[in-house]
Amino acid sequence: MDYSELSRQADEARRHSYCLYSGYSVGAALLTRSGKVYTGCNIENASYPAGICAERTAYAKAVSEGEREFAAIAIAGGPKGGKPADAYPCGVCRQFMNEFVSGDDLDVVIVHKELDYTVHKLSALLPCSFGPGNLN
Ligand code: THU
Repeated sequence: MDYSELSRQADEARRHSYCLYSGYSVGAALLTRSGKVYTGCNIENASYPAGICAERTAYAKAVSEGEREFAAIAIAGGPKGGKPADAYPCGVCRQFMNEFVSGDDLDVVIVHKELDYTVHKLSALLPCSFGPGNLN
């Protein structure tokens, strides 16, 4: 699978990042199984823990529009105004994304400096996970 365009969209989404406190902008581009893309950025807050990561912004947009099935998410993060620098999703985001994996694993696309990328399976980034199935 070629994720060049998704990676570009993740980097583009960094432009809207609200990161007054960290100066670290993150963009995410979430691809649904039907081929639609929802983007998101990190949105920080003067009350620091109230901020939200780019990945969860993208998921909140998609899920609140009725989407439930996702194929991939590209993530681009780094110092604001600079090139992406290998931003892997935080633990909270890994858990959040795991909620919506059913059947096929999610491709997590990490965007590097020159908009090249590497692809990881969410199950590899979050082994031995706790998910919806545990509550059955
Ligand atoms: N951040 C994300 O948006 N996604 C992650 O997976 C890691 C961290 C944001 C949160 C905060 O606004 C900034 O990056 C610095 O931690």
